[in-house]
Amino acid sequence: MQLISETAVDGRPGPGFPLAWPVLDGVDMTDIRKFGDGQPWGDFARLRAEAPVMWHSETRHGGPGFWVVTRHADVMAVNGDPETFSSQRGGILMAQGRPEQRHALLYRASMDAMINLDGGNHLQLRREHMPYFTPSYLRGVTEKVRGEVTRLLNEMADKGECDLVENFSAVLPLFTLCEILGVPPEDRPKFLKWMHYLELAQNMAGEQATAGLTPTLELMQFIADFNSNVEEMFDYGRHMLHKRRLDPKADLLSAIARAKVEGEELSDEFLDGSWLLIVFAGNDTTRNTLSGSMKLLTEFPEQRAKLIANPALLPGAVNEFIRMVSPVIYMRRTATRDAVINGQTIAEGEKVIMYYGAANRDAEVFANPDQLIVDRPNADKHIAFGYGPHTCIGKRVAQIQLEEAYRQILARFPDMRWNGDIDIAPNNFVHAIRKLGVSFSPERKAA
Ligand code: HEM
Repeated sequence: MQLISETAVDGRPGPGFPLAWPVLDGVDMTDIRKFGDGQPWGDFARLRAEAPVMWHSETRHGGPGFWVVTRHADVMAVNGDPETFSSQRGGILMAQGRPEQRHALLYRASMDAMINLDGGNHLQLRREHMPYFTPSYLRGVTEKVRGEVTRLLNEMADKGECDLVENFSAVLPLFTLCEILGVPPEDRPKFLKWMHYLELAQNMAGEQATAGLTPTLELMQFIADFNSNVEEMFDYGRHMLHKRRLDPKADLLSAIARAKVEGEELSDEFLDGSWLLIVFAGNDTTRNTLSGSMKLLTEFPEQRAKLIANPALLPGAVNEFIRMVSPVIYMRRTATRDAVINGQTIAEGEKVIMYYGAANRDAEVFANPDQLIVDRPNADKHIAFGYGPHTCIGKRVAQIQLEEAYRQILARFPDMRWNGDIDIAPNNFVHAIRKLGVSFSPERKAA
């Protein structure tokens, strides 16, 4: 299979056609500092209302500009037409950066993965993953998740105050993913470290660019730690996948290791890419939704009360949590031909970026979109998991974890609340909550 990292193009400069919508002052989706307080909901509302398909000049990475798409119907249209809007031509990330700016290993692995494939090769590789995402397989996973939630809450029970991320949200998705992958328990703590550095990758690139030739000692140390962790993560993945190729087990690692596309096993580049995709997509998104849901329940106490009074609302409420948090901020596509979205002609080769959080707060679809409504009748119309051939393969895995977590949290700690302490990574791709302080009445130990 051709390497995407060697064939992808970072879009045409553009815009190739006259603008149908204005360019809004002050909207800069490449300014990662803006995302350190959460997503720019105010900008999203302006964009949906005044410029739903807005041309955005590339201001920071020095590459081509892109189209910002924010309305629900338009995001669905782009996602639903993979022949016109390709994942493979330029990958799903906003910018590839100049070769000298890239982290070579991370760049290659972020490109050579199924999320960036189109057509038959994508379907084939996705099919190889599927046995580990079917309802019958996930029934067993649900039991294990339930047990892990209980164990984690038991450990927190007498604290009264703690960081929910460290004690819970970072640990549960890692446990679940490692169970599905088949990673031995003793190796799992390493994943926590790797996630920490991956979430800060964008921030580091920004600081490096600002520092130019005079980085501080602190930055140099961080870069060295970053590089050694990234290398360790790929070394471990390659080691495990090759081990499973020789000695397969009934786990997702073996399915990836033995997957065949175009009649051949995956190259080392695609093994690295598949490893990075599953480790990042499977962990980070659910972690941030677990934490974000607690923040929402604190901000909307009457909705918490409603859920506690009627736990049968939980599966729908979980969809509502995911709609409101929308932890994946955007996905990118590249136009394979001239096409029109909401009156704007996009030229072949131009980049189109879909903002899921913006689409999920579109009042055309969701009444009072900024309100958490645990019994919202159409919460399942959210598109936080994407739409079309690349729709999240782990959707049910995420929902299971959120349901099991909040069923037990609300039953055992009905007054658990975010206490105002929060730390969000400056990152415009994933909404990454690194710390969320919570307070609650400790459970009394049985005498
Ligand atoms: C709340 C949690 C999650 C959210 C919001 C989320 C979001 C998404 C989105 C938006 C996509 C679509 C990408 C595109 O259209 O280009 C995606 C794809 C993907 N997700 Fe998730 N995800 C979540 C949890 C998970 C979990 C738990 C796993 C694995 C255990 C996972 C694995 C993947 C993979 C492998 C893909 C690529 C699918 C493909 O290319 O066919 N995700 N996810």
